[in-house]
Amino acid sequence: MKEQINWADLNILITGGTGSFGKKFVEIMLRDYKPKKLIIFSRDELKQHEMKVNGFNDPSLRFFIGDVRDKNRLKRAMREVDMVIHAAALKQVPSCEYNPFEAVKTNILGAQNIIDAAIDCKVKKIVALSTDKAVNPVNLYGATKLCSDKIFIQGNSYSGNQGTQFSCVRYGNVIGSRGSVIPLFSEQRKTGKITITDKRMTRFWLSLKQAVGVVVKALSHMQGGEIFVPKIPSMKIMDLAEAIAPGCEIEIIGIRPGEKLHEALITEEDGRSTVDYDGLYVILPQFSWWHRKNYKSAKRLPEGFSYTSNNNDLWLTLEQLKNMAHEFSNHHGQTGVSRQLKATMQRSKPVNPKTKIPAITPIRNTDIGNNIPS
Ligand SMILES: NC(=O)c1ccc[n+]([C@@H]2O[C@H](COP(=O)([O-])OP(=O)(O)OC[C@H]3O[C@@H](n4cnc5c(N)ncnc54)[C@H](OP(=O)(O)O)[C@@H]3O)[C@@H](O)[C@H]2O)c1
Repeated sequence: MKEQINWADLNILITGGTGSFGKKFVEIMLRDYKPKKLIIFSRDELKQHEMKVNGFNDPSLRFFIGDVRDKNRLKRAMREVDMVIHAAALKQVPSCEYNPFEAVKTNILGAQNIIDAAIDCKVKKIVALSTDKAVNPVNLYGATKLCSDKIFIQGNSYSGNQGTQFSCVRYGNVIGSRGSVIPLFSEQRKTGKITITDKRMTRFWLSLKQAVGVVVKALSHMQGGEIFVPKIPSMKIMDLAEAIAPGCEIEIIGIRPGEKLHEALITEEDGRSTVDYDGLYVILPQFSWWHRKNYKSAKRLPEGFSYTSNNNDLWLTLEQLKNMAHEFSNHHGQTGVSRQLKATMQRSKPVNPKTKIPAITPIRNTDIGNNIPS
């Protein structure tokens, strides 16, 4: 059961609105949904300034400087806000290992502050971004995100009859995101040699556009307590190396601390409470008081189901990886809004909510090349 969201009536806040996900979310919101107000909440004034001068100047936008560690500031920012997308995080694995208290303060205590502020401000829906690294975590980043997921889901018990709903969206690596392997291989290719930690490694992949689509879809489906997991393809690291740096020497440097051979999005244990619904896997909460009213028609999954990057049905082919690498180098360095958004930036009449729930169809090997962030 989908809620038809009337975006034109809504005030939306995104924490981490200046990050990779945040900018894509803002771009798509302004182009396709046109909320009444869209608040960008983050710490660094320079990143916010760069967004403004790069075309994010729609009158619906508000730029709030703030830290998720500061509950009072969050409460001020969430006044009259209807929905919150929580994307702010410390997310570099080595940096979280080296600065563990900082990772805890932002990723765990920050999550608690969001929950408290949202309940106090009577926000209706909150979607927090999770990651495959939160599943059976082997590094501190993943462990803090697992805590964050747990407290967001439990946030539904805290809000009680007040009605604020909390859910998570969990996905794997974002194609070409900062510090990821595509930019690394592209740089190393110039030297004729690339480094790979382990030849057997596999990863999930999705584009920022797809990630935003899943969040929008989660907002319309959620009743609070779910973890939404998109069906996304996997890739083999050796195929990616061949796509980006054909003919280069490959040096195997060994698996790094905190790195896994394969990533998981749903464990076998969580698989028992997961359903297949509208092109997504949805991990349902285990509260005694929770009723699956939105998921009555959802498909149960077979006994022993788990979802890992090496047991996936969907795989990116070499050809598709080549297209992705090509698209990445074409768009690398683009910091502003797309030309398409610039053309539609003048506020036009609100969209019909009935037509604007995006279709996130499961990606097939044949169309992944068309899902690169634009
Ligand atoms: N990228 C991926 O491959 C990937 C995969 C799965 C899940 N995710 C999740 O998706 C979310 C967004 O990731 P991303 O790639 O967009 O990250 P990103 O590009 O590093 O952006 C992080 C954003 O958070 C803000 N931020 C950091 N600390 C903050 C704080 N204490 N208070 C307020 N704002 C803060 C940053 O701005 P300031 O520095 O100016 O504050 C920035 O806007 C994260 O939760 C991440 O765990 C990412």
